[in-house]
Amino acid sequence: MKIGFFDSGIGGLTVLGHALKILPFADYIYYADIEHLPYGEKTKSEVRQYVQKAMDYMAEIKVDAVVIACNTATSVAGMKLRKNYSFPIIGMEPAVKPAVAYCQETGKKTLVLATSLTLREEKFQQLVERLEATAMVDTLPLGGLVKFAEQFEFDTSAVEQYLQKEFAPLTLADYGAVVLGCTHFPLFSNILKQFFPEETVFFDGSVGTINHLADILTQKGIAPSVDDKIKFVITNGKLPPNDVDYKKILQAYVHSI
Ligand code: DGL
Repeated sequence: MKIGFFDSGIGGLTVLGHALKILPFADYIYYADIEHLPYGEKTKSEVRQYVQKAMDYMAEIKVDAVVIACNTATSVAGMKLRKNYSFPIIGMEPAVKPAVAYCQETGKKTLVLATSLTLREEKFQQLVERLEATAMVDTLPLGGLVKFAEQFEFDTSAVEQYLQKEFAPLTLADYGAVVLGCTHFPLFSNILKQFFPEETVFFDGSVGTINHLADILTQKGIAPSVDDKIKFVITNGKLPPNDVDYKKILQAYVHSI
């Protein structure tokens, strides 16, 4: 079986990492739309066009299913696109539900970190309203982390200074849970955790998404491949530039989870 993964850049590798663990016997194609990132700072209609182009490419290469491994793309384009393609499209959703449930036991609040486009979207607002958790959920856009990640900069003092500035207006000890609502953010788990109390629990939606993918593949009777391999492409299906080493980041991430 051939599974497509799609993100604006390297963020979706954090979702693919879980797929390699849960569904090791598949051929994966990873599409990074690096010529158009960051999606979090684009308009809704721009992001919709980019996602549609990527899905057209996935249709051309005849994938069995696609994971939109990007919260921003899912929130503006995910649902609407589904009906145009014959293969299942599985999206991401910030893991607010388990985080809020966890916080109910502690009485503490949840902090959702994502791109500004994800946080502004109706889909996100409705998610929080449905949980009747508006008063217990705070949000913070951290689009700067996407830019750092795309420069392969993770645990540097520039990242630390950026986070210090962004977190300054908040009392971080108030949060029992932090939701990583952008797939680039788990690449910063180590540095992010240093800002919060040790007992603060971090949530992201990757495992839920991959379990959902596994269920859909089973329902559709799509059989595992005998051997597994991964291919990486960028915008319009071109090969990534030589200095972009997706495999290295993926391997390090798989090792860390
Ligand atoms: N990785 C994407 C997400 O999960 C967005 C990054 C971007 O702004 O391009 O939201």
